[in-house]
Amino acid sequence: MGELVTILAIESSCDDTSAAVCINGSIFSNVIASQKVHEQYGGVVPELASRAHIQNIVPVVSEALKQADENLQQSGLPPMHEHPFSAIAYTSSPGLIGSLLVGAQFAKSLALSYNIPLIAVHHMQAHVLSNLIGENPPSFPFLCLTVSGGHTQIVRADSPSSLHVLGQTIDDAAGEAFDKSAKLLGLPYPGGPLIDKHAKDGDPFRFRFAEPKVPELNFSFSGLKTSILYFLEKQQAADSNFIQENLPDICASVQNAIVNILLKKLEAAVHETGIKTVCLAGGVSANSYLRKRFMETAGRNKWNYHIPEFQYCTDNAAMIAITAYHQFLEGNFSSFETTVSAR
Ligand code: KG4
Ligand code: ZN
Repeated sequence: MGELVTILAIESSCDDTSAAVCINGSIFSNVIASQKVHEQYGGVVPELASRAHIQNIVPVVSEALKQADENLQQSGLPPMHEHPFSAIAYTSSPGLIGSLLVGAQFAKSLALSYNIPLIAVHHMQAHVLSNLIGENPPSFPFLCLTVSGGHTQIVRADSPSSLHVLGQTIDDAAGEAFDKSAKLLGLPYPGGPLIDKHAKDGDPFRFRFAEPKVPELNFSFSGLKTSILYFLEKQQAADSNFIQENLPDICASVQNAIVNILLKKLEAAVHETGIKTVCLAGGVSANSYLRKRFMETAGRNKWNYHIPEFQYCTDNAAMIAITAYHQFLEGNFSSFETTVSAR
């Protein structure tokens, strides 16, 4: 059993406290506590996020160990106490400083007390590598469209440790475009999943919004937000019930506009690089319409494609664990002096 690499990973970069256990590259638990406290403020309040992480981290880690034990038992494998940790991993950047610090200090204390290595993981690299979790991972090289609340990137992955950002947003992230549009429609934070839900009964071609012209493989979403704002103001002036009466069609049309922007650039990236294996990652890849259109586009272009399971799309520690596993194999450990950073 001494050969096995067992990693406990912590993710606390934003408003989800998560812990996961990974043994030899397989995920045995992935526990996520989402913070409800931010809903009433219409966005994440950093100070409240740090406090909630402090409250959640011990119960979340205990639950991750318990669930790993149950899964090991079901797989007929020895229990957790027969798998000494090989390393403790945590998210060191990017994210909210106070939130990152909670996970970092917890991980450092644990690694110090067990006298085992520490592995600092980059959150965006982890989103990309969430595609390596499970049975049929994509083969390298692949392109990954990473779409979250804070980032929108097209990444070329040549190996787990060799990732290159080919393009990214010059203003808002795709998740922000969802959340800000939802806010204009009077929906609570985070609005992305609600737009997804209402759009299911709507017509995506009913309303058209201006498409941004951004050079190369970069993205822009702030113009779309403005165009939606002006559109809603104009319609509401003529009919004050416009939003209530047309919510599904508006949501479907907004979603269609965002997805069009994303997939056009992904197609351009495939064309430019010649790489025909494509992946999705990040919170917005939980969006059902993006997933559907992504699969259609991949099918039409004869690309190989991969999308992580839902639980690995939004922020989670399993993606930190799988990334740490590859860092472990490469001997890429971190010093206890490593600091967290927002960017
Ligand atoms: O990756 P993530 O959990 O956190 C960050 O690292 O930012 O992404 C969160 C973002 C939020 O903007 C949220 O509205 C969006 O992902 N999101 C969705 C859906 N589920 C989550 N957006 C659209 N449709 C969804 N189903
Ligand atoms: Zn994220």
